[in-house]
Amino acid sequence: MTRVFVTRELPGGAGDGSPIARLREALGAENVDVWPEFDPPSREAFLERTEGCDGVLCMITDRIDTEFLEARPSVRAVAQLAVGYDNIDVPACTAHGVAVTNTPDVLSDATADMAWALLMAAARRLPAGRDAIEQGQWGQWNPTWMLSSEITGRTLGILGPGRIGAAAARRASGFDMTVLYTGHSEKPDFPGTFVSLDELLERSDFISVHVPLNDETRGMCDASFFRRMRRHAIFVNTSRGPVVDQPALIAALEDGTIAAAGLDVMTPEPLPPDDPLVRAKNIVLSPHVGSATLETRTKMAHLAVDGLLAGMRGETVRHLVNPEALNAASRR
Ligand code: GLV
Repeated sequence: MTRVFVTRELPGGAGDGSPIARLREALGAENVDVWPEFDPPSREAFLERTEGCDGVLCMITDRIDTEFLEARPSVRAVAQLAVGYDNIDVPACTAHGVAVTNTPDVLSDATADMAWALLMAAARRLPAGRDAIEQGQWGQWNPTWMLSSEITGRTLGILGPGRIGAAAARRASGFDMTVLYTGHSEKPDFPGTFVSLDELLERSDFISVHVPLNDETRGMCDASFFRRMRRHAIFVNTSRGPVVDQPALIAALEDGTIAAAGLDVMTPEPLPPDDPLVRAKNIVLSPHVGSATLETRTKMAHLAVDGLLAGMRGETVRHLVNPEALNAASRR
């Protein structure tokens, strides 16, 4: 008998063919334990509910580390409902023969759309316009009121030209933009020019960040990064909050080092309403919802179910993060 714990209700409903129905059909409904609450399980609840489990379908809010792997040696697969997996200690999973899967590709378009939504909202000052209406500051039409930044024909800098960065870059062709990029990538699937980070910062009117969070990228957008950007430039981040030195970003917005920012990710998450970031000048915020369309989240859930089932069977799937784990597993 194979048992799994799913750490939140899955999108896509529970009807025939839905992600959760597929899991229940494959394993037997009694073997699929779904955490019923809106908020994630506490660490204690997570450990309790995974006792005797063969697999876990988890989220970015669940920590998969050595402590967990040692406490739950029956677990053979961890399927993450996200493309980023910085909450998972992958080398530790590999060493324990635990397969890790994620949900790449299916969320690239939705997340790139969100980067553009933030870019456009920040450039065209949508929150300021709404505030003006709400506060009764909308006088007669005036040719010098609420001026904002042109987008068409300008330069977009992509930091991290992977799948989501490429999707964001491709959208720029509709705005006749020049695209520059920097970061690791095989051969990006969009028309753009590779430049150094310095050149990207010096030339871009908009910078959109699409890097994974790791030791190399943590805190990389710091005071020196913002100082090297153009004064009228706009910074957008839909990757992970800790890539940004947040106090440095707030200072850069306050003193006019950069013009504006749009963030879907921040530190901490959830961000308390009284955090200084909320009151920062010229900022647009959204609550880590880059992939949150019903269609995309349903595709992610299907992919996570595929990954969980394959991982527990010791099979390779395209979105297996650590193929080496299967060798380690065969030695268990
Ligand atoms: C969400 O943040 C993801 O990594 O998919």
